[in-house]
Amino acid sequence: MAVSLPLRDCQAWKDAKLPLSTTSNEACKLFDATVTQYVKWANDQSLGGMEGCLAKLKAADPNFVMGHVISNGLVLIGTGNSVKLDKELDLAMKTMVEISKTQPLTQREQLHVSAVETFAKGNFPKACELWEEILRDHPTDMLALKFAHDGYFYLGYQEQMRDSVARVYPFWTPDVPLSSYVKGLYSFGLMETHFYDQAEKLAKEAVWPVAASPPCPGLQALSIEPTDAWSVHTVAHVHEMRAEVKAGTEFMQRSESQWKDSDMLACHNYWHWALYLIEKGEYEAALTIYDDHILPRLKGRGSVLDVVDSCSMLFRLQMEGVSVGQRWQDVLPVTRPHTQDHILLFNDAHFLMASLGAQDRQTTQDLLTGLQEASKSPGENCQHQLARDVGLPLCLAMVEFKDGNPDRALELLLPIRYRIVQMGGSDAQRDVFNQMLIHAALNCTSSAHRNVARSLLMERDALKPNSPLTERLIRKAAAVHLM
Ligand SMILES: [Fe+2]
Repeated sequence: MAVSLPLRDCQAWKDAKLPLSTTSNEACKLFDATVTQYVKWANDQSLGGMEGCLAKLKAADPNFVMGHVISNGLVLIGTGNSVKLDKELDLAMKTMVEISKTQPLTQREQLHVSAVETFAKGNFPKACELWEEILRDHPTDMLALKFAHDGYFYLGYQEQMRDSVARVYPFWTPDVPLSSYVKGLYSFGLMETHFYDQAEKLAKEAVWPVAASPPCPGLQALSIEPTDAWSVHTVAHVHEMRAEVKAGTEFMQRSESQWKDSDMLACHNYWHWALYLIEKGEYEAALTIYDDHILPRLKGRGSVLDVVDSCSMLFRLQMEGVSVGQRWQDVLPVTRPHTQDHILLFNDAHFLMASLGAQDRQTTQDLLTGLQEASKSPGENCQHQLARDVGLPLCLAMVEFKDGNPDRALELLLPIRYRIVQMGGSDAQRDVFNQMLIHAALNCTSSAHRNVARSLLMERDALKPNSPLTERLIRKAAAVHLM
């Protein structure tokens, strides 16, 4: 996937009112190339990918602070590495801070350094505040906008994710590089706050202009950024939230060529495709997507998002009563090295799915013990602060659920169900926990829990009508006289 040229040099960044403290035009252009690939969710192999760009960037100007900011920020925002466990990252962070003290920086650059430092400490709310401070004076700072967007996503701050983009949206006129991608960011926030019509319209505008005649129903021709995988992803979410399984499946099929080369998001878009198939009860087709597209990416790149997609999908299929064979054995070697990360509670819950699925009791125990310790650690880490009240009860509920103790799982989950959003992720991703609660309720033996399943199913049906998955669960409840 080629980055559109020209990339901005020192003067171009200055003209954009985003001056960079370096005299190297090469470093400036490579910084631009890295931001662009981050926004597009795609490594441009003609430039050596993001890693290649960052290596060349450091060689072009080893003291370029914003080069260090984007390099460290991208590692951290990937949520697979922490300064506590990754010595290389720890050293890189210290180098960034030291270099920032040796030269006069703009206030914007200083804020970027502070934000990345703060994020590394696990204080995501404060880091987002710093990125917002940048955006108040520099609304077209894409790095601040995208880091804040991802930070809010990890915090489950759905309104902030939407409003952060709304505040700067008018400044992203078509002449500003990457402006069409801001539509994708905004549409995702709109979708997560349930403005589905607006979200869909905006996401499609980013990829297909309004005035063109559609080549097929629902799509329009003449692309603006035909490979904007994040905008396509918003549309996938809209279909998911409305249980439009047929439209969703067809949309993914038609648009596949537009996002399959976005190597950082393709796995996740295939996961969305598979969700429609699970909804429809077409489990073999879902497993084929898993085997053909998700597992190879998990084994290849193995990013945390790929891991989360893999775990979530296998866990959902098992709840549907589908045998996943030995597939957990392929996932566990990728998740096990992350057992002591405790960077995101949302990730922890998915790593736990793998150790539970593979029946690796030792890894399960290690994760729970580590999380318990993290929950007691002092400091500003927001995930550790949330572990005691939300992360641990959820993880313990998953263990009880898998151990065949549905009453205990339900007792742990019910009090925290409306707080799980604080662990971040999308509504669609967190639905795996809603489904687990319903399955637990369906299998409860205690008379006090008998009506919980019915309540949960009525609520689910009201929120997302015509869901085949919900209908199957309702039939199951009726079979045991709960409906
Ligand atoms: Fe998604």
